[in-house]
Amino acid sequence: MLFIGVDLGTSAVKLLLMDAEGKIQKVVSREYPLYFPNPGWSEQNPEDWYTQTMEGLKELLSDFDKSQVAGISFGGQMHGLVILDDKDKVIRPAILWNDGRTQEECDYLNHVIGKEKLSRYTANISFTGFTAPKILWVKNKEPQNFARIKKIMLPKDYIAYRLTGVHCTDVSDASGMLIFDVKNRCWSKEMLDICGIHEEQLARIYESYETVGTVLPKVAEELGIPAAVKVAAGAGDNAAAAVGTGTVGEGMCNISLGTSGTIFISSEHFGVDEHNALHAFAHADGHYHLMGCMLSAASCNKWWMDEIIGTKDYAAEQKAIEKLGENHVYFLPYLMGERSPHNDPKARGTFIGMTMDTTRADMTQAVLEGVAFALRDSLEVAKSLGIRIERTKICGGGAKSPLWKKIIANVMNLKVDVPAIEEGPALGGAMLAAVACGAYGSVEEAASRLVKTVDTISPDPALAARYEERYQQFKKIYPACRPLFEMI
Ligand code: XUL
Repeated sequence: MLFIGVDLGTSAVKLLLMDAEGKIQKVVSREYPLYFPNPGWSEQNPEDWYTQTMEGLKELLSDFDKSQVAGISFGGQMHGLVILDDKDKVIRPAILWNDGRTQEECDYLNHVIGKEKLSRYTANISFTGFTAPKILWVKNKEPQNFARIKKIMLPKDYIAYRLTGVHCTDVSDASGMLIFDVKNRCWSKEMLDICGIHEEQLARIYESYETVGTVLPKVAEELGIPAAVKVAAGAGDNAAAAVGTGTVGEGMCNISLGTSGTIFISSEHFGVDEHNALHAFAHADGHYHLMGCMLSAASCNKWWMDEIIGTKDYAAEQKAIEKLGENHVYFLPYLMGERSPHNDPKARGTFIGMTMDTTRADMTQAVLEGVAFALRDSLEVAKSLGIRIERTKICGGGAKSPLWKKIIANVMNLKVDVPAIEEGPALGGAMLAAVACGAYGSVEEAASRLVKTVDTISPDPALAARYEERYQQFKKIYPACRPLFEMI
């Protein structure tokens, strides 16, 4: 039997083919454009997602016995608003997770409705990237589009719909919409009223490992796979990545260094951070998790390398870095504003501390360190809740860099366990498909049998102490700059 994991990311869709023993047979990736039509806006065309997913699936399966494909599932970029009309046609481009246009709607939700009520209804408060403020934005700014909405969907659910004809979502991704009662795993009637929408406009909710249907005959024919191939609901990319790194059950931690950067803490029990600085979401394993999300992580390094320095050789740039813990340059990685823990769409990327002897390597190092310090901000929130973490898994494009992993281990002062396979969300998607097809009894069983750690990076006490001092300085820079961000 073969299982396919589809990771519908922000820059590309990644597709992974896994056999029943968990061996990865092939991984392919297809890019699509990302549009920034106004400063702080971020959009994509759902049709591009579908076209590239189908093309990627054809390439993925080209050398394999397609009759062996049993299941498909997903990890998907979270929070994106996809709206369909009564002919199931997409009404406008999807508004993505890193879009900052909804400040007014967020202020209304957080300050007029009030954070206390939002947290009671959904376990979370409003952030500009979440789906509910986007629904309100369309209602306020594009009433003609709002009036045409028949279905509201999340990005990966749009692909599941095109593959199966079923309007579905899963508990982990629904958690990021701010219209979902996370504790009770159902839509929040109060939030639907607040957003002016009806339950019929929303998809049916599944656990991530549940089957929503089989592929449509025309899809089966186009891909050459059996019509009996099951499609499982899948998960938001962070929950799927957590499954793919074995971050399931009680008290496990995963750091993802993708376009966004997240710290994800799994728990068997529902819990809320009383200040809502961390998101309290349902997990793909049937339980819950807390998560801090920074909007620009590996994307900061990509921006610095591709756009500013103008190189594709990231490894060569990192080779020149020699003085870990001693850099006097700091970088605030807020190129798209920031979510956790500052909740400030106006925050901006900032270098500070350069002198005449500052080198290109110091600045590259500051970018890598700035992302690690900003993730540490979310770890500090988790610690303040009494959560004790000693080690973390790691995944995402940034985790391919040995230097960045070392910086993370020492800035966070955590042991970093490196999984054999870094394709977190795509692997998690394939594992959820395998559970849906009965190859494993539960997500926990799949994780314990399939996920292997190949290396552990332990913090070096002297370096961790130097980074501790530097983190204490880093912490003071954002509050000092905040009024300036307001101004610019
Ligand atoms: C999580 C979040 C991001 C996206 C990236 O809350 O917004 O991690 O899911 O794809």
